[in-house]
Amino acid sequence: MIAADRLAPASLDITKIREDFPVLRQSVRGKSLVYLDSAPTAQKPYAVIDAVRRFHEVDCANIHRGVHELSQRSTAAYEKTRSTAVRYFNASSESELIFVRGTTEAINLVAHSWGRMNVKSGDEIIISALEHHSNIVPWQMLCEEQGAVLRFIPIDDRGDLILEAYDKLLNARTRMVAVSHVSNALGTINPVRPIIEMAHAMGALVLIDGAQAVPHMSVDVRALDADFYAFSGHKLFGPTGVGMLYGKAELLESMRPYQGGGDMIKTVTLEKTTYNDLPYKFEAGTPNIAGGIGLGAAFDYVSDVGLDAVAAYENELLVYGTELLEQIPGLRIIGTAREKASVLSFVMEGIHPHDIGTVLDRMGIAVRTGHHCAQPVMDRFGIPATTRASLAFYNTPAELDRLAAGLQKIAEMFA
Ligand SMILES: Cc1ncc(COP(=O)(O)O)c(C=O)c1O
Repeated sequence: MIAADRLAPASLDITKIREDFPVLRQSVRGKSLVYLDSAPTAQKPYAVIDAVRRFHEVDCANIHRGVHELSQRSTAAYEKTRSTAVRYFNASSESELIFVRGTTEAINLVAHSWGRMNVKSGDEIIISALEHHSNIVPWQMLCEEQGAVLRFIPIDDRGDLILEAYDKLLNARTRMVAVSHVSNALGTINPVRPIIEMAHAMGALVLIDGAQAVPHMSVDVRALDADFYAFSGHKLFGPTGVGMLYGKAELLESMRPYQGGGDMIKTVTLEKTTYNDLPYKFEAGTPNIAGGIGLGAAFDYVSDVGLDAVAAYENELLVYGTELLEQIPGLRIIGTAREKASVLSFVMEGIHPHDIGTVLDRMGIAVRTGHHCAQPVMDRFGIPATTRASLAFYNTPAELDRLAAGLQKIAEMFA
């Protein structure tokens, strides 16, 4: 077993990092808060809180349309986030990064715009059996409308995708492969590079749902050769209601706008509209300006902490937490993939996850219980729900000790 005091690598000062997150400093039900629910949304550092506040206090104005000082300042701050994102994800240019509400909207944008132009009756789309509902439902809707067929890459008992089955699913009718980079329900890190290569060899495009990857590892969209990559800002320590869709410029160029309205136009007459250039063509209406600016602060904050150090530390936390949980009587970890990130999903014999979550909450420990918007994953494992602890770099081994002690107590209470 890894000794708890050996866990924090010299490059990460967890005590200092925790001071950046004010929410972590509170007591819940008389105990110091243990926040193990970062997969649904991560906590925000002062850098993000202050950037959003500064916008509202000092720079608040609508963007792109104003000649006055405040509008220019808010436009510059908002667009700076896009430029930062270009470097952060190694995209080719600002044209390839579209502001959206989050991963869900990014996927819907592609399914709606690219999908309706390119998917015809009898065509096929491949997703996997471990997707979040956000990467299932838009494709089901598209297939239903276009008369296309949705196929699924199965998963094995560990929660790994079965690539041999994927290979057999791919064929000349496959138009799109849409898979998550990291599973929110199981923590599986999918081998997206080979998945993309195999799809491209068949002439299909690939969308990667990066919602659960981006907070835990660095992502290089060009090295991956992803056609589309979607993520949510709030899971990356940024504000809610903002995220981004990366798309290769030539693909975005060929696509029709997703929504119509202000900002996405060049000219409008009562009869006809010409559309704006990328990326604005896909950004109708006033966006979440404060959120976009806060997201820029989140990129900078995470870059300063260093994603390689984050990934290494979180992996040690995950190994440590797994070893602790394996010692709890009657506890079974769901999702034991060869490569995992930051998720400990489990069931306990004879105890409903909802009860586990409720008792843990009384101990000041926040976890999530339920199907995690991944009902097909629950079906695959023949369970209705799991309890899930999801980690971020501000978590500590001591917090995992508190979780394990809490679960030990629950096992005894319900024995
Ligand atoms: C893998 C994955 N995809 C998509 C989403 C949807 O993200 P959002 O609700 O921010 O659009 C989530 C959210 O939990 C997720 O974990």
